[in-house]
Amino acid sequence: MIGVPGSSGPRRARLAAVGYYVPDRRVTNAELEQIVDTTDEWIVSRTGIRERRIVAPDQATSDLAIRAASNILESAGCAPEEIDVLIVPTCTPDQLFPSVAAVTADAIGAHGAAAFDIQAACSGFIYGLAQAVALVESGLARNVLVVGAEVFSRIINPADRSTYVLFGDGAAGALVVGDDDQGPSGFLGFELGADGSKGDQLTIPVGGTRHPASQAFDPADAYLQMNGREVFKFATRVMEDSATRLLDRLGMTIDDVDLLVPHQANQRIIDHAVARLGIDPQRVFGNLDRYGNTSAASIPLALAEARDAGVLRPGMRVMMVGFGAGLTWASCLVRYEPT
Ligand code: ACO
Repeated sequence: MIGVPGSSGPRRARLAAVGYYVPDRRVTNAELEQIVDTTDEWIVSRTGIRERRIVAPDQATSDLAIRAASNILESAGCAPEEIDVLIVPTCTPDQLFPSVAAVTADAIGAHGAAAFDIQAACSGFIYGLAQAVALVESGLARNVLVVGAEVFSRIINPADRSTYVLFGDGAAGALVVGDDDQGPSGFLGFELGADGSKGDQLTIPVGGTRHPASQAFDPADAYLQMNGREVFKFATRVMEDSATRLLDRLGMTIDDVDLLVPHQANQRIIDHAVARLGIDPQRVFGNLDRYGNTSAASIPLALAEARDAGVLRPGMRVMMVGFGAGLTWASCLVRYEPT
């Protein structure tokens, strides 16, 4: 990427394309019953999840990101050389570095692109969109690809049934492009936040600089650890609060939202947010039952499937809202304007 802020005149950012890739292997709740002390009935009634996709032994996060990125570019009719910036929201990178984004940019042929990962867990896709919009509307970049990619199956502990059943693998994202016209942004607004004081509620203790993987550790500390009840309470509160703060700031109400695409973590959290926001469930899209929680991929995976199902249509105002480790949260209201 090469650019000078403002030098190319005003640009408006537009959500031009969405797309995804998930691994082939489906793992049903019945299969999990063979691995952990659980039941299909417990998982469905407590979470809404029926199955999830799991990577092949030789696949890592970038392998999913590469396929998703290619699918997004194909649906936009955009060549990889046209990408100025590739952002990969992920908290399950192939390794600490190089970034998944750098590996992905090379593999898809986006050789002139700046590439970096961002870490805001399940809020990461919306954080990434905010970065993309800022880059485009400042004039620094014209085409920014944001691909959330996660392989949670490698960081969940088979000895911990309360987390092992919740997650799946996948990658999905969006292309944000800049149009040279004076119209208002296709992105109406963002509300992003973080509360690090609750960071220890959802963590992987080992593998960073505080507890390097080179030093002796309890294997359980190399896996995701979560205080499910605390995260549940946080999520139900913040989904409603964040969406409401954004709508208030925009002078809008939930009636101005054509489609709500919430983070797919737990159906009870989603139902709670939908009821509190007062949106007709017909205007809410989800696919949690088939994928589980795919973290940074979850919202764009639902967006892309909504597009494929004809539920997401050009011109619609879409609200996305998510939460995750950090603890973080994020909302975005955008008009979908496919190329
Ligand atoms: N199968 C059967 N029983 C189970 C299972 C399981 N898989 N997991 C827990 N249980 C048991 C518990 O041991 C407990 O038994 P007990 O009463 O005998 O002690 C009982 O079920 C109830 O446990 P709770 O933790 O109270 O169950 P709860 O209804 O809270 O559901 C859950 C747990 C699903 C984890 C819920 O708390 C939740 O969804 N929290 C939010 C998680 C979330 O959304 N995380 C997002 C992470 S996003 C990111 O950034 C990674």
